[in-house]
Amino acid sequence: MSATGHSQPPRELKAGGSLQGRVKVPGDKSISHRSLLFGAIAEGTTTISGLLPAEDPISTAACLRAMGVRMSPIEAGGLVTVEGVGLDGLQEPAEVLDCGNSGTTMRLMLGLLAGRAGRHFVLDGDASLRRRPMRRVGQPLTSMGADVRGRDGGNLAPLAMQGQSLKGKVIRTSVASAQVKSALLLAALTADGTTTVIEPAQSRDHSERMLQAFGADLKVGGEMGRHITVRPGNTLQGQQVVVPGDISSAAFWLVAGALVPGADLTIENVGLNPTRTGILEVLEQMDAQIEVMNRRDVAGEPVGELRITHGPLKPFAFGEEIMPRLVDEVPILSVAACFCEGESRINGASELRVKETDRLAVMARQLKAMGADIDEHDDGMTIRGGRPLKGAALDSETDHRVAMSLAVASLLASGDSTLQRSDAAAVSYPSFWDDLDRLRC
Ligand code: S3P
Repeated sequence: MSATGHSQPPRELKAGGSLQGRVKVPGDKSISHRSLLFGAIAEGTTTISGLLPAEDPISTAACLRAMGVRMSPIEAGGLVTVEGVGLDGLQEPAEVLDCGNSGTTMRLMLGLLAGRAGRHFVLDGDASLRRRPMRRVGQPLTSMGADVRGRDGGNLAPLAMQGQSLKGKVIRTSVASAQVKSALLLAALTADGTTTVIEPAQSRDHSERMLQAFGADLKVGGEMGRHITVRPGNTLQGQQVVVPGDISSAAFWLVAGALVPGADLTIENVGLNPTRTGILEVLEQMDAQIEVMNRRDVAGEPVGELRITHGPLKPFAFGEEIMPRLVDEVPILSVAACFCEGESRINGASELRVKETDRLAVMARQLKAMGADIDEHDDGMTIRGGRPLKGAALDSETDHRVAMSLAVASLLASGDSTLQRSDAAAVSYPSFWDDLDRLRC
């Protein structure tokens, strides 16, 4: 049964104890999607090590296979090889492209497919994905000549796309979103003329790094890397991609390690791309005891080892500026805030309302069920921490990051909890529950 189903019994979450040891978080989800997509449209073979073997990248792989791309099975710990079909080699699929729960799959596919003149594509997803806004990609693609239709004036899946010849353009995106940016960069690869994407603030830059490594003519400029220019014409060449561990998955251990009495955790091989490390900036603001070791570059991405030990924490405040570097870590930081004496403030986080769930509403609802003191507002929350939380009957509401955030909260509650739909974690971190069992002491 999928993460959205109710068929699994609720998971028992025991309170108390500590956490000790080393953990290797699975591969970065953003980099995993991109390695499959870029490998598919390159010439020759791409080999990927450390690819995240979770539901979201598996959705991307399934869509690519449905368009004639051959690749090896995605297995835990395995190498994945992708036989590229070249920039124009994707076949028209005979079936609906099922993007599952994955916004990255749907948005990047829209960009990838918009310029496949004469071919027709239908993209769909689960109930959560059908509620997420796609106009932010469809509208700029349409300005390049794309033809995309769907419910709510083309905003909501299922979406139908008729491939067209696209024209390069200068496009100012309305949100700092790496999904939107990456979709436009993919479309730009086969457009007629140059495309420049200008973001309101820099979002994660994995696409830029990896497209350059694959040989695209892509230049990053402007203040803080906000202007990205693609000139079509170069073919992409298959590469060897090494996917680092996902800092967004490491974030659960970082916060757990900081909060749980006696904890001492070392997280190996974590991606430390500066467009992703907002969580480290906030933990520093909180005076968390965190050490970054063995920093190095692996296949174009910075990587290191993180050690976190328990200690007293201060409340935090952050706003819109940091959000692109932190967007997926807000749920776990809302948990951290509950256990810091004083008031923490999250602002500028309205994007959280259009993630897999409305993460501001869901986290506020679930943490309040444990007795947390939270005011939810349009673009964030104010959390008065320090009062003890009690065990409760919790629900991930189908959201992977909510499931794992609540697991951390439950460790620190005054009694045991249960969690409905805990299997949602498999969307980005299938071994999360095993790692939690192993690290507990
Ligand atoms: C992602 C970008 C982020 C993030 C998502 C993955 C990506 O979304 O929340 O989990 O791989 O590009 P936005 O770019 O829409 O903020």
